[in-house]
Amino acid sequence: MSNFVSKHILCVNELNRDSIETIFHVAKKMEPYAKKQKRTKVLEGAVLANLFFEPSTRTRVSFGTAFNLLGGLVRETTGMQSSALAKGESLYDTARVISAYADAVAMRHPDAGSVADFATGSTVPVINGGDGPNEHPTQALLDLLTIEKELTRFDRNIDGMHIALVGDLKYGRTVHSLSKLLCHYKDVKFSMVAPDGLQMPDSILDTVTNAGHQIELVNTMEGNLAADIVYQTRIQEERFPSQEEANKYRGGFRISQAIYDAHCKPNSVLMHPLPRDSRGDANELDNDLNNNDNLAIFRQVQNGVLIRMALFALTLGVDELVEKYETDVPWYSSKKNS
Ligand code: NCD
Repeated sequence: MSNFVSKHILCVNELNRDSIETIFHVAKKMEPYAKKQKRTKVLEGAVLANLFFEPSTRTRVSFGTAFNLLGGLVRETTGMQSSALAKGESLYDTARVISAYADAVAMRHPDAGSVADFATGSTVPVINGGDGPNEHPTQALLDLLTIEKELTRFDRNIDGMHIALVGDLKYGRTVHSLSKLLCHYKDVKFSMVAPDGLQMPDSILDTVTNAGHQIELVNTMEGNLAADIVYQTRIQEERFPSQEEANKYRGGFRISQAIYDAHCKPNSVLMHPLPRDSRGDANELDNDLNNNDNLAIFRQVQNGVLIRMALFALTLGVDELVEKYETDVPWYSSKKNS
């Protein structure tokens, strides 16, 4: 994809290395606005329909915040029961209707392929905020931007890095999209660290192998976390056939400071798409890591706003105009110097 204007962002397959670099370039330009050092009104008058038919906190708020930071307005609907989909309306019809109100759509839905179905009826750009176990392209982009920024601190880059993906690799859509996006880079070593039954789907392993990357499939964390990036995932309980089935995996792949000291490299960067499940022993990334400088999880969140701002600016054709519509920030903001 070279021209983003009026395009949908549905899956990472549509992106190549040039388009990724364009998105990152625009995302980095968004930093002063996300940090409230300046404001821009470039999307004043534009409306985002933020349609979340599956639970979400950060992705939903992050899309809305990104649009607001560009000066636009956000209309939101959450949950299937509060929408006309519960009355049997097709995604196509919903899309035709929403396109009459909004200038862009961000959407999450529990079914794989649903956001693409919706996009067939939409006359405005649609950005996929997660379609069931399938894809989560904006999370993959923010993860990749985080990886790039974190590795730069250690004079390393994505080409040639070693990444360990840990936990529920079967249902975790963020690791599916991230693995595919990494196919645009060179010589990445993947350690797929998952319990038996939750390994990465074959189709994604094939894609990664065909990109010339090296893969190790392992079912234990011991000896397999000495990577540049250690990306932990939550057991996606809501996607299991039964709660009983999901319970078998609770707490099995938990990284604590002691595990980090014993099995990671001295500067392994720890990532997680969040939410981390903090109930009892389910916690996949222990709270005792909170003061570890290499815990990048809250920096991922900040990068998420930048990526979503960039995608809105690009798909609505204003990426070169943000500075032109700039104004001052008169209020106190604790983010200014962060
Ligand atoms: C993830 C998601 O919803 O796929 N979170 C997110 O978008 N930040 C991962 C998860 O729910 O575990």
